[in-house]
Amino acid sequence: MYGIVNKAIQGLVTENFGLEKWNQIKVHSGIADDLFISNEPYDDSITYKLAGSASHILGLSLREVLLAFGRYWIHNTGHQHYGSLMLTGGRNLREFLINLPNFHSRVMLVYPSITPPEFRTQAINEKELHIHYYSTRMGLTDFAEGLIIGLAEAFHESVSVALLQAKKSKDEADIFKISW
Ligand code: HEM
Repeated sequence: MYGIVNKAIQGLVTENFGLEKWNQIKVHSGIADDLFISNEPYDDSITYKLAGSASHILGLSLREVLLAFGRYWIHNTGHQHYGSLMLTGGRNLREFLINLPNFHSRVMLVYPSITPPEFRTQAINEKELHIHYYSTRMGLTDFAEGLIIGLAEAFHESVSVALLQAKKSKDEADIFKISW
């Protein structure tokens, strides 16, 4: 994944747990890079190792790390660094989620070579949406859930997010139910 993803894990750790913990995570994961360059591609294994080592060093479950990472991505990476891009997504959570299938095509104007996730949004009724999340990668379900929770927080909306279906292979989707 692009360096910006690894940079965001670094930001999440240093801002919330301190530089010392980040250095321990780097040693534990065996990753030698001193800094990550946002618009350069890195092997996905680096991101997975950083998340795994963060779980070990911080004493959190991998799910807790990935949920926190998803929320951090929206509030920090998204909001602080790509504010205008985030604004194009919608004026409230429902609108943003309905537009989500097209969001990464705009991200690709900035990062043309990403392998983006794919989303399908199903409007069930006024108070319920289902998000189908497809990816060529496994193991990022909790990250996607954290992103949806982060979006709800950014719009100051109170929702519940439930995983209706967990994918068992890359061809399947994780399905999240969002209800207001
Ligand atoms: C300004 C905001 C955003 C930017 C700049 C951005 C950019 C990126 C980038 C660079 C990647 C790495 C892909 C790669 O390197 O191959 C990525 C992955 C991902 N993004 Fe976004 N993104 C944004 C917002 C969102 C939002 C709002 C969601 C969903 C609610 C989302 C869901 C994901 C997921 C789940 C992945 C993991 C990749 C995968 O599933 O295969 N992103 N994004």
